[in-house]
Amino acid sequence: MPRIAFVNGLYTRQQEAAVSIDDRGYLFADAVYEVWSVFDGRLADLQGHLNRLERSLGELQIAMPMPRESLLVVLNEVIRRNRIREGMVYLQVSRGVAPRDHVFPGPDVKPAVVITAKPVDREAAAHKAEAGVKAITVPDIRWGRCDIKTVGLLPNVLAKQQAKEQGAGEVIFVDRDGLVSEGGSTNVYIVGDDNVIRTRPLTANILPGVTRLNLLKVAEQEGLVVVEEAFTVEQLKAAREVFVTAATSLVLPVVAVDGVVIGNGAPGLVASSLRESYIDHARATAGV
Ligand code: PDD
Repeated sequence: MPRIAFVNGLYTRQQEAAVSIDDRGYLFADAVYEVWSVFDGRLADLQGHLNRLERSLGELQIAMPMPRESLLVVLNEVIRRNRIREGMVYLQVSRGVAPRDHVFPGPDVKPAVVITAKPVDREAAAHKAEAGVKAITVPDIRWGRCDIKTVGLLPNVLAKQQAKEQGAGEVIFVDRDGLVSEGGSTNVYIVGDDNVIRTRPLTANILPGVTRLNLLKVAEQEGLVVVEEAFTVEQLKAAREVFVTAATSLVLPVVAVDGVVIGNGAPGLVASSLRESYIDHARATAGV
């Protein structure tokens, strides 16, 4: 079955879909994106991702490409046309198509929208989580507005490639003060011997993860204590458990950092139980 993409108002075969070479997303990374997980054919953390999309666009003075309700109709139509039950949806909005010029184009140029969807093998993902992933740390060389979900991801691309070449599944950015920022495409958490979960507070230097937001709620419901407090690389490596979250990986235990084994080298109890509770929560509230 051919995959179907929504591209600027039309549903097209993804293989044949194209955007203009004057698209500002292509020329300047002048675009934002969102990624949703799909459970049982429904969008997980639906409103949270729409809220962040609106915020990212607002920060960059890009208009919402269509009202929220219409966007929802299109997102669900892409899921339907691709017959996705378990999967993910990618949405990208650029400032639009205009001859190359750094300054914004005039108001007649409308934002450009691309939406795609693909299935996810939940069983394979579960096996990956049961094994846990290795991570490496790299200096955080990104810009000062990582709270905006732009497609300008070159530092993340380079760092994640470096991780792959070193046999690791994720990269952890460390800022100039030696504090952990976040992962290459995830938020990062540690669990100490006190059983307290620590994660960096939200600033302009990290992405406000939608999974993070919901994980904090789920953890509280489980009676776990979460402290939003920055931690050092040393604390990271000495932690009893380390895990990362994102719409793609959900909750994923980290079992080694820079070759240093975390805990006993297997996914920890807190991370494993939070993964289950988060997935239950996401599945139960999907589409709402
Ligand atoms: N990435 N931090 C960064 C740098 C990210 O790229 C992501 C998500 C997150 C987690 O955000 P959320 O929980 O809302 O997915 C944190 C997406 C999934 C990606 O780039 O594919």
